Amino acid sequence: MEFFYGIDVVHGGANRLPQNRIVVGLDVGSTKVAAVVGEITELGEVKITGIGECSSNGLRKGIIVDIDGVARSILQAVQSAERMSGQKIASAYVGVTGTHIYSVNNKGVVAVGNRDGEISVADVERAISAAKVINLPLDKEVLHVIPRQYVVDGYDGILDPVGMVGSRLEVEVSIIIGASASIQNLGKAVSRAGLHIEGFVLNPLASSEAVLQPVERDLASVVIDIGGGTTEISLFDEDGLWFASILPVGAYHVTSDLAVGLRIPLNQAERIKIEHGCVLSSLMPEEEYITISNVGGHEQRKVSKKILASIIEPRIQEILHMIKQEIKSSGFKGVIPAGVIFTGGGCCLDGLAELAAEQLDMPVRIGYPCNVGGMIDMVNHPRYATGIGLIIYGSRRMASAEAAAVSDNNIKGYINSIKSWFKDLF
Ligand SMILES: Nc1ncnc2c1ncn2[C@@H]1O[C@H](COP(=O)(O)OP(=O)(O)OP(=O)(O)O)[C@@H](O)[C@H]1O
Ligand SMILES: [Mg+2]
Repeated sequence: MEFFYGIDVVHGGANRLPQNRIVVGLDVGSTKVAAVVGEITELGEVKITGIGECSSNGLRKGIIVDIDGVARSILQAVQSAERMSGQKIASAYVGVTGTHIYSVNNKGVVAVGNRDGEISVADVERAISAAKVINLPLDKEVLHVIPRQYVVDGYDGILDPVGMVGSRLEVEVSIIIGASASIQNLGKAVSRAGLHIEGFVLNPLASSEAVLQPVERDLASVVIDIGGGTTEISLFDEDGLWFASILPVGAYHVTSDLAVGLRIPLNQAERIKIEHGCVLSSLMPEEEYITISNVGGHEQRKVSKKILASIIEPRIQEILHMIKQEIKSSGFKGVIPAGVIFTGGGCCLDGLAELAAEQLDMPVRIGYPCNVGGMIDMVNHPRYATGIGLIIYGSRRMASAEAAAVSDNNIKGYINSIKSWFKDLF
């Protein structure tokens, strides 16, 4: 199994270059499994060439409860992506989610090794190794170590300290930790579907790759992916990822509230939610009705859209309240000028952005996948943000691995590839 350790990205990739320039993102979600195929052009742009999707079996709140069920869903999604793209899929970048995931910010400090005071790659690696030293429970493992910034002799905000002169090097990192068992179970399901894992990537990190605009990366922002069973939060400041967290609630809870509240089957509740769901009951007219049938399907009734919204609104308010608490608990003290970017299928409910702006007291927009070309019409929906983000992440990794391989004996090339990776990423 291969994990991303921030700066180690280049080491891993240089040893095993992909045979072609096809990248596949595998989003194993609570409601759907999506396999998205992308091609990296010579100019380094990402073109979507296919997507396969299958409803998800064997996941609850982002956690695998039936490995074979998940493997079957993955296989179906992959086969359908193969048919659409005309590409044989052998490997994928796999998104990881679940409430077991948390982030820790840490620092590493080292004395610069060279007598002339010039900071080397080895110094940077030692600083990152020092920053990685944290109390890790036995059942957890590190998923990512992401350098946020370097500080040389007290001067902060440095992206690449290699070649600079100084005596003391500090690095600030964001460490993403997850439960080993959950990650291994996901790995097993992917392997049983016959795929090699290019790397595990934190879902919210992937989603943010797909929806954040460059200008938002330069400011503090929060990306929130409301899926079926989870709500994934990632908070970025101008130095990169500050905090990540996953809540065990999602848009499925709205469906289930409607099913219970209106006494209708889940599939009908899901359809009604997508067709008529709105989170602002005050805006809905009393006199607009929809027709529903009871669980047995024998009886039909009329329900006003206002009633629908009054069932949906408290659940969304609760999720927004949890998000607010989570942002507060992150310890982030600064302002968030770029505001909140909502993505994931659950953010498509009418009125969600308006209610969120009011409740979170921040600018809010809905994030559709961007930063890619090709068959974007096929994936132009917030629910594909993770799958597309995985491809963008993978393409960056591929680019830095290729750059490192080309200048294998040239240490400067290696440094540049690290530099461009982190400059581009955040
Ligand atoms: N147009 C829409 N309007 C309202 N809700 C929608 C719409 N489209 C999708 N959804 C909801 O989005 C949810 C699925 O979102 P998504 O595909 O992002 O979840 P997932 O990735 O499978 O789950 P998770 O991220 O929690 O593991 C479902 O609950 C679905 O009802
Ligand atoms: Mg999801």
